[in-house]
Amino acid sequence: MKPRAGPASPSCSSDRPNRLQRSRVDAAAVATFDWMETVVMTASYSLLLLPGDGIGPEVMRQVRRVIEWVERKRGLSFQITEALVGGASIDAHGVPLTPQVLEKAKSVDAVMLGAVGGPKWDGGKVAFEIRPEAALLALRKELGLFANLRPATVFDALVDASTLKAEVVKGLDIMIVRELTGGVYFGEPRGISDLPNGERIGVNTQTYTTSEIRRVAAVAFELARKRGNKLHSVEKCNVMESGLLWRQEVIKLHQESYSDVQLEHMLADNCAMQLLKNPKQFDVIVTDNLFGDILSDEASMLTGSLGMLPSASLGAPDANGKRKAMYEPIHGSAPDIAGRDVANPLATLLSFAMALRYSFDREAEAAMIETAVQRLLAGGLRTADIMQPGMARCSTTVMGDTILRELDKLQAA
Ligand code: IPM
Ligand code: MG
Repeated sequence: MKPRAGPASPSCSSDRPNRLQRSRVDAAAVATFDWMETVVMTASYSLLLLPGDGIGPEVMRQVRRVIEWVERKRGLSFQITEALVGGASIDAHGVPLTPQVLEKAKSVDAVMLGAVGGPKWDGGKVAFEIRPEAALLALRKELGLFANLRPATVFDALVDASTLKAEVVKGLDIMIVRELTGGVYFGEPRGISDLPNGERIGVNTQTYTTSEIRRVAAVAFELARKRGNKLHSVEKCNVMESGLLWRQEVIKLHQESYSDVQLEHMLADNCAMQLLKNPKQFDVIVTDNLFGDILSDEASMLTGSLGMLPSASLGAPDANGKRKAMYEPIHGSAPDIAGRDVANPLATLLSFAMALRYSFDREAEAAMIETAVQRLLAGGLRTADIMQPGMARCSTTVMGDTILRELDKLQAA
């Protein structure tokens, strides 16, 4: 275990590290799990790109350009495989995720996913078991990606894009750690069946075991230690036994290994309210799969646009200390604007930055991409989703062009 990064600063003090400094320490937090050392030995990384549906392919195209840039200018080398997933895979192969693609996903250093789904496959047009979203859930489950890191960060240039008052969201930097392979998403029994009285019943089951709770809480505690040193654990222990167990196990783990971290417990409904009332009270939030799904959408909107937010889904370290990982933007496939070169590629580009940081231990390149995004926004460039008065509206491709130009400038500096 590495030593602590120094005294923790209270989460709202002005000496709190800024976003980029904290991104760096977030990576250090994960590095304490001793899994990066093995990755960093090799100069070449294997990457599976799954562009998916809707705007997925066009935003992933910009990622490819940035990958080529880091290869050309920073000496990295990627072995890239691209494959179909979601609706695109249903159309070609009849299933949203083929066994071959799943095997590939298991064998690579990291997976980058665009987005899945669209009206073409919605509303019972394909069987529930083979809907596009099933690919996403299978990838998470089969790769064991139990820790889903969803940062909600407000870029200074976009403070006014939030529907909340600027003073409420300026400088906001929350990390939601969502449990991703358990809970009601996967619990058994589940299904729809007939009742003797002629009614039908739909059943889903929320289950959590101690180990499922402890491993995700440990990731959250480690991240908190390297950030504002504050963790909110969120459940509904007033109604659900799985929530009660969650609270008990988090308390136990805190006492055993993380008593230096400030721990608070919050009921999920109150958390939903507090996120709107005073979001800056939060540093790291850890919660279950379903509450995490909902609260991360809510938190993302504090930042003004879903089009800005990346995510990382990480598994447990294997015998060699390597974690399986998948990176994807939080936004969906946005079929209404697909193919028109107007989608915002920044969330996917920032997801690639997270891959560089968490899977490849390339902090310098990750920070370069994040700085390039900050500068481009400060320069006034906006895709339609984040357009503001007085700014310059641009296409997906021009956003990509500009990122490469900003990267060139950073490289030359
Ligand atoms: C998400 C999405 C998915 C989820 C859907 C597409 C299955 O909303 O990643 O947050 O519910 O987990
Ligand atoms: Mg969601």
